[in-house]
Amino acid sequence: MNHRLGRAVAMATAGLVLAGCGGAGGPSSDKPELKITGAYMPVPVSSDMAAGFFTVTNSGAADTLTSVTSGIAEDVTMHSTENGAMREKKSFTVPANGTLDFARGGNHLMFDMLTHKPKQGERVSVRLHFATSGTITVEMPVKSATYTPKTRH
Ligand code: CU
Repeated sequence: MNHRLGRAVAMATAGLVLAGCGGAGGPSSDKPELKITGAYMPVPVSSDMAAGFFTVTNSGAADTLTSVTSGIAEDVTMHSTENGAMREKKSFTVPANGTLDFARGGNHLMFDMLTHKPKQGERVSVRLHFATSGTITVEMPVKSATYTPKTRH
């Protein structure tokens, strides 16, 4: 392949990427940069329901967690805890250059109608769906029922 042609192809590709950003990214071309850490599921006490926790760290533009799915449950819902009462939420904002925490006593995932009861030490595959970043799959280790992470942040 001659060099001139190679360069032309590279430039055309760069042009496409830029056009794509301007079209879908809104006023800012910054994109979310998401990282999921500290994910775990306390071993469920009942055979039909489990909870899940994790932290989303974002070093870019804001994004939105729109839904969660998993092969372990027929239904996964997202809940917040406000004044001690839990409330189902349709979505959660991941702030720009910030974090979204799912932790005991606060936001949590609820897995309903489990397809099987996970055991401690098992890993549960959970798919987090974000408006901009798309789907991020997390392998959630199943911990003891009383497990809490030692340090946060
Ligand atoms: Cu709940």
